[in-house]
Parts: sequence; structure tokens; C-alpha cells
Amino acid sequence: MNPRIIAVINQKGGVGKTTTSSNLCHALAMMGKKVTLIDLDPQGHLAVSLGVVEAAKSGIDEVLLGHSDIETQVILVRNNLQLIVSGPKLREIEQLTEGGVARGDLLRLSLQNQLNDQDFVFLDCPPSSGILAANALFAADELLIPMCSDFLSLQGLSHLVATVKRFEQVLKKKYKTLLVMSRYVSTRRLSKEVLDTLLKHFPGQVLATVIRETASLAECPGFGKTILEYQPKSPVAKDFAKLANNFIEGKVM
Ligand SMILES: Nc1ncnc2c1ncn2[C@@H]1O[C@H](COP(=O)(O)OP(=O)(O)OP(=O)(O)O)[C@@H](O)[C@H]1O
Ligand SMILES: [Mg+2]
Repeated sequence: MNPRIIAVINQKGGVGKTTTSSNLCHALAMMGKKVTLIDLDPQGHLAVSLGVVEAAKSGIDEVLLGHSDIETQVILVRNNLQLIVSGPKLREIEQLTEGGVARGDLLRLSLQNQLNDQDFVFLDCPPSSGILAANALFAADELLIPMCSDFLSLQGLSHLVATVKRFEQVLKKKYKTLLVMSRYVSTRRLSKEVLDTLLKHFPGQVLATVIRETASLAECPGFGKTILEYQPKSPVAKDFAKLANNFIEGKVM
């Protein structure tokens, strides 16, 4: 069976893409789902976040350069959770100018008939709308858009929606799109306002659990741990367990 391929995408920086990717994927893996996480961001934060120390190791960079197949680059990082790191050459790929439209289709092609034992493949996208994000949009069937509660993120969202529409037209497909409210501060009026705006513009698409802003969530990458390992009993660890359930069941607000 083919895995579901989900791009965790938002060209705005720091909205919680990587935090959502690592913690949600670990929560899904702990529920028994088979998950592969691919780091499409040259910043390479997923390797650090999941405690992989071989920083110079090759990853999705070699796949996109046509030097390796996907399954060769897989590292088992937890029970049921595999990671493909970004690799040192990914930054060069983002800057390549030759190759035309075909440069966007490299990931989709390399995923064909691969990772067939997996339930989910998640793509952690960079904060840009260049060739790496394009590869994610070519390859993915579903989008998961983390949103944080500030005004500029809302502005950025309309840009993202326009990009996604363009891809849908060109690729003749329709993404199943879900949003997740991240970095939520229940006492902050703006958090509530952003959430209300999302619910108005994306009815039936905002996952039922919000991820609260919590210092421990920012600390755990420094220990190479997810929040489910670092503070498994904390409210935010429970948020991610609930979010994983919401994701599987399609439970929205
Ligand atoms: N819910 C949260 N509570 C506290 N800190 C958070 C939360 N979510 C993310 N952070 C912190 O905010 C910063 C940005 O988060 P993250 O790296 O997940 O965003 P991103 O969208 O992947 O960023 P980039 O666009 O650079 O890839 C990180 O330092 C992270 O630890
Ligand atoms: Mg990131």
C-alpha cells in the first residue's frame, strides 16, 4: 500500500513546522503507525531535534541530486519512526537554476514505489517558496499548515493559499488540507482572534487540538528529544497525542 504523503508547509518562518513535524510524527509512531519524516529544510533542524548527531550524513540531498534512492537514506530514529535528514548539499539544490520545471518533480518521482510499508511520509518544508517547497507540493497529496498566532502569519497565509491554488491548477489535483494552530496562548487576545479568523476562512479544516506556547517545547530539541520523551506527562505532550488522534480521525473544530 502507498503511504499518505503530507507536506508540513508554510513559507513563513518560525510558525512551528519543525516542532509539529517531529512531535506529531513521534506521537503517531507511538500509536503504532509507521512514519517516515523527510527534512526538506537545509537548516537541518529535524536531525538535531530527534537526536541524530551525524550532521554531515547524506540524506534527501543525494536523492534529489539523483545519486541515491530514498530507502538508502532512511535512519530508524525511534520505534516506527524513520528520518531522512536534509544532508549538506540541500542548500545548493535550493539555489540550482538549471533544469526547468522538472526540478520540482524530483521528490515525487523518487518516492514512487518506495516506502510502501509506511503509513505516512511527512515532508518538513523550509520557510520559503523555492524549489524545495515545490518538490513537496509535487509529491504530497495532503498539506498540514501550522499557523502561529500573530498578524503577519495571517497575511502570509493568503500568499500560501495562492501558491497552493496555482499548484492545484497546474498539477490538476486537489490537496486535502488541514491547519494546526500552534504556539497558542489562551490568555492572549490575538491568539483567539487568529484562531477565529482561521475557523471562518477554513471551516472544517482546523484540527481540533491547539498546540500551546510552552517553554519546554522549545527546550526539548536541545536534548535531541521530542516532548513525548522530555516531559511525557506535560499538558503539551498530551496536546500532541491528541493531535495525532485528530489527524488520524480527521477531527476538526
Ligand atoms: N508551541 C511552542 N511553544 C514554545 N516554543 C515553540 C513552540 N513551537 C515552536 N516553538 C519554538 O519556536 C521556534 C520556531 O519553531 P519551529 O522551528 O518549529 O518553526 P518552523 O516553522 O519550523 O521554523 P522555520 O521556518 O525556521 O523552519 C523554535 O525555537 C521552536 O522551539
Ligand atoms: Mg522548520
